[in-house]
Amino acid sequence: MGKNNIRKQWDNATEPWVDFVRSHKDYFRDEMNNPTTFELLGDIRKKRVLDLGCGEGYNSRLMAQQGANVTGVDFSKKMISCAHQQEKKEKRGIDYHVLDATNLLTLKDSIFDIVTCFMALQDIENHKGTIRETYRVLKKHGRFVFSIPHPCFEVRIRGGKIIGGWRYGKANRNKQIRTALYYTVDRYFDTRRDIVPWNMKRLIKQFKTTAFHRTLTDYADALYDAGFMISRLKESKPTKRGCARYPKLKLCLRIPHSIIIEAVKP
Ligand SMILES: C[S@@+](CC[C@H](N)C(=O)[O-])C[C@H]1O[C@@H](n2cnc3c(N)ncnc32)[C@H](O)[C@@H]1O
Repeated sequence: MGKNNIRKQWDNATEPWVDFVRSHKDYFRDEMNNPTTFELLGDIRKKRVLDLGCGEGYNSRLMAQQGANVTGVDFSKKMISCAHQQEKKEKRGIDYHVLDATNLLTLKDSIFDIVTCFMALQDIENHKGTIRETYRVLKKHGRFVFSIPHPCFEVRIRGGKIIGGWRYGKANRNKQIRTALYYTVDRYFDTRRDIVPWNMKRLIKQFKTTAFHRTLTDYADALYDAGFMISRLKESKPTKRGCARYPKLKLCLRIPHSIIIEAVKP
């Protein structure tokens, strides 16, 4: 599947994605990934930030709300059109562009203090090209902060078979909740593209996207080759409130769901 087809998948996913994010159905974001990533980002007031693979702009808006001067880019025209519409409704001075993350043509060298990429680098086919472009547009000492599903614990589907994930015991008679016994991992070094079925019941429409499983070494090598120095790393944990509201999140206190990496342009 080529880049255009991957882009079409995201165009087609825009409507259910917008509802998922804006209706706070994405509780992994609200109660885990965002709190951890924003803590790592720290004070972003007056910083010039590029949000790569910004989607419909939810996190771009959060950063603008915190006082950053934000540019958002995504290769899906539909996603960017939704981001624009929201910007018209509630102006936050965000500048959106339809651009491929691997070719940020219209953005000049060394202009951003921070480049963010929230849960999108795993969906970008050419991670090396994206990381090189990120390096180019960052100022000296600028930071690249990205979150991805934790590559060590990603569930993969091979030939219709689910590889890895929780193994459960019998359902509790009263509550009908199965006890998670332990987590299985396999084929970590088997790097390849995956079709991701977004089939949760809380979506208004199911959709499929393409993602790329890579090892931590693949990401670290690409950062090193581009000239970056990895400075910090966090494995996100859910908030207390999230665990109380969404029992599924409690499992992320046992096995990390995502990882956030900060790399600096020396
Ligand atoms: C899982 S969504 C995350 C969106 C956003 N960062 C958020 O947190 O809501 C992944 C996004 O990456 C975008 N994307 C995938 N490949 C891309 C590429 N080569 N260039 C730019 N955007 C890309 C998709 O269009 C999609 O909007």
